[in-house]
Amino acid sequence: MKSTPLTLDGVTAIDHPLVQHKLTLMRKKDTSTAQFRRLLREISTLLCYEVTRDLPLEPVEIETPVEVTTGQQLKGKKLVFVPILRAGLGLVEGMLDLVPSARVGHVGLYREPETLDAVEYYFRAPEDVAERLCIVIDPMLATGNTAVAAIDRLKERGVTQLRFVCLVASPEGLERLRACHPDVPIWTAAVDRKLNDHGYILPGLGDAGDRLFGTR
Ligand code: URA
Repeated sequence: MKSTPLTLDGVTAIDHPLVQHKLTLMRKKDTSTAQFRRLLREISTLLCYEVTRDLPLEPVEIETPVEVTTGQQLKGKKLVFVPILRAGLGLVEGMLDLVPSARVGHVGLYREPETLDAVEYYFRAPEDVAERLCIVIDPMLATGNTAVAAIDRLKERGVTQLRFVCLVASPEGLERLRACHPDVPIWTAAVDRKLNDHGYILPGLGDAGDRLFGTR
């Protein structure tokens, strides 16, 4: 399937062949819940690799079994993954596989079915979240309402360093998130055609939360 070409500043397409192959399997309607969950976890490590590619490093003196040398280590406080509940949970474990010491915040938001507005029902983040890089994660960027609300909430808590990662984005969601939060760069594996009247992405992969948890 051909994705819409990316023309927006601040949006990075993750075109790694393994990501594209796994995403295609996830899109198939016959992919089972167990397969979907496993694929999402696998893809999330690859998304994590891309979104952390330019993290700052600092030199550190270490001793190998043979001599003293200078290595590189991540600079600054541990980063925070912030899944948007509930589908974002499917990306957490794979990301923690790569960054085991990361903190995890949670934002619970659901889409009001009539208006598609984001309604918050849960928020929890580390006390010192404002001093950390927060990577907000959600498999689907559809209307953009929940992503915008999650980032609004983190900014209210004083967070200034933010990134957003998703698997599939709609052009509408990308435009909205970039317009509301131009300081937040976005990584996505695909930009699909458009949203339908119910706010689902076409061709998309259906409801990521339902497919992940087997609730439909
Ligand atoms: N959320 C989903 O899980 N899927 C969509 O297509 C849109 C929003």
